[in-house]
Amino acid sequence: MTSKDDPGGAPKAKRMGFGAPPDRAKSESESEPTSEADTDSDSDSGQAEPKPDLLADDATIDLTQEREKAGVDEVLAELDRELIGLVAVKQRISEIAALLLVDKARRRFGLESERPNLHMSFTGSPGTGKTTVALRMAALLHRLGYLRRGHLVSVTRDDLVGQYVGHTAPKTKDVVKRAMGGLLFIDEAYYLYRPENERDYGQESIEILLQTMENDRDDLVVVLAGYAERMDVFFKSNPGMSSRIGHHLDFPEYEVDELVGIAGLLLDEQNYRLAEDVEPVLRDYLTRRREQPRFANARSVRNALERARLRQARRLVDRAGEVSKDDLVTLISEDFLGSRVFEESPN
Ligand SMILES: Nc1ncnc2c1ncn2[C@@H]1O[C@H](COP(=O)(O)OP(=O)(O)OP(=O)(O)O)[C@@H](O)[C@H]1O
Ligand SMILES: [Mg+2]
Repeated sequence: MTSKDDPGGAPKAKRMGFGAPPDRAKSESESEPTSEADTDSDSDSGQAEPKPDLLADDATIDLTQEREKAGVDEVLAELDRELIGLVAVKQRISEIAALLLVDKARRRFGLESERPNLHMSFTGSPGTGKTTVALRMAALLHRLGYLRRGHLVSVTRDDLVGQYVGHTAPKTKDVVKRAMGGLLFIDEAYYLYRPENERDYGQESIEILLQTMENDRDDLVVVLAGYAERMDVFFKSNPGMSSRIGHHLDFPEYEVDELVGIAGLLLDEQNYRLAEDVEPVLRDYLTRRREQPRFANARSVRNALERARLRQARRLVDRAGEVSKDDLVTLISEDFLGSRVFEESPN
């Protein structure tokens, strides 16, 4: 489990309408969005359940202004800046934001409808950005007033399913409780279903999740993540789960250009830069690495940079003598060429 948060759980505030997210006490969840997400509104202090006056039938709402107020553009721009590629994913996120803004506007006219179903599946190979996008999604849904806390609880089968009779229900319920008001991210969700095991406790967890996804959909967004093919099989065998998913987002493998771009972002973030002649070497490295087993997209880029950093350190220390700031921030070809990836040349 990658997140811990308040075990007691905040008191439930069900059906809080679609107004400004009340300023819930932030939990100590490590994945709680750090943005100023809670400052975004004219939330009236202390009032339990503010019932906004309905607008007259001939009134109008300025959606541009509403977007600004909720800080939607900021989140989307940040997403665009900080995540390379993923065009279709970004597009879908911006559609979801639009949907929620319109839903909110409708409510102000008293137009009742079910809240949009935001349970999602994120399919893609390792390192394609699923967890990262889930975090951003949680923050965005919080800003839009859909999720009251906007934290992310990330789990796998082991966090949900027990080893013995009677252990699974409490485990799953505990996870659900901790995720309330936020986003529950279930990685490799298909492991919950093991048809080869006649009495597998995973099924019990699935049942509870199904119920939660139906009954608590205003207070919890569930994201099922994993490889596309396995997820397909899982959904085919679990039509109940499939029918509760409102949005499927596919995370494609990154092209070499995108991997190079990701490297650039990561280097910037960490105050490193490539010497002038290094980009072609990096490109060559990534082209080769991409064809190898256990390639994990952006995660492999991150690892490659870690190793280059290690070689740089060794190089600087071995060289002895003085180092400049420039030396400390610069990675040179040698730092990449030392990789095993260059050992087996294709011809
Ligand atoms: N499009 C991108 N642009 C920039 N950085 C990215 C991008 N995609 C992923 N990363 C970075 O790569 C790392 C791995 O991404 P992330 O953990 O989100 O992938 P994942 O799909 O959840 O992988 P896994 O299936 O292995 O859990 C993160 O550090 C993230 O910041
Ligand atoms: Mg992940």
